[in-house]
Amino acid sequence: MSKKLRIGALASGGGTNLQAIIDRCQDGSLPAEIVLIISNNQDAGALERARKAGIPALCIDHRSYASREEFDRTIVGALQDAEIDLVILAGFMRIISEIFVEAFPNRIMNIHPALLPAFPGLHVQRKALEYGVRFSGCTVHFVDTGTDTGPIIIQAVVPVLDSDTEATLSARILVQEHQIYPRAIQLFAEGRLRVEGRRVSIDPPDDYCPQSLTNPTLR
Ligand code: GAR
Repeated sequence: MSKKLRIGALASGGGTNLQAIIDRCQDGSLPAEIVLIISNNQDAGALERARKAGIPALCIDHRSYASREEFDRTIVGALQDAEIDLVILAGFMRIISEIFVEAFPNRIMNIHPALLPAFPGLHVQRKALEYGVRFSGCTVHFVDTGTDTGPIIIQAVVPVLDSDTEATLSARILVQEHQIYPRAIQLFAEGRLRVEGRRVSIDPPDDYCPQSLTNPTLR
């Protein structure tokens, strides 16, 4: 059997994306293993999920460090000690520094609850609603030194409804996040992602059947 991909996960919050990935590793549908979970927040639901799944976890509180670089060096050290192949940011609400990105080039993924490059940053479901877009969604991308700017691996689109609130739109997007993050990791684990500049190609390509979406519908 080929070696499983060793994942290190960083999460600040409830950790539902993390849980979706834990579940897929445990049911064998992802050829990967989460070997270390790190949170900057001792109250993160992600730490409780780690405990329940029997995965080693660390709380590294950014407030105990004088600089972002010092904090990142500590995290990088822990990930390297655990011989991580891929780092996943799963609701990790800290900007990571060059030191971190350079330690894992094209080996850090992030999930973002909007269709990048639209709406980078924070509170993006609210911003999408306020802007009046008809579609939003989520994006998994490799992390570079910008904020939500790295090469895009996979996106899912959801409609924005007239009746939506920030909560209902966020919930609709989150359902798709739980689908696309494991898929991006699977493609990485299978060695199918090729990064050339900004573009990520899938090798061999998916037999994707293009379809257009309209909201509202044309009829
Ligand atoms: C998710 O919606 C994720 O896309 C977002 O935080 C949420 C975490 O939920 N991440 C960002 O906004 C990163 N800038 P979870 O803890 O339940 O996975």
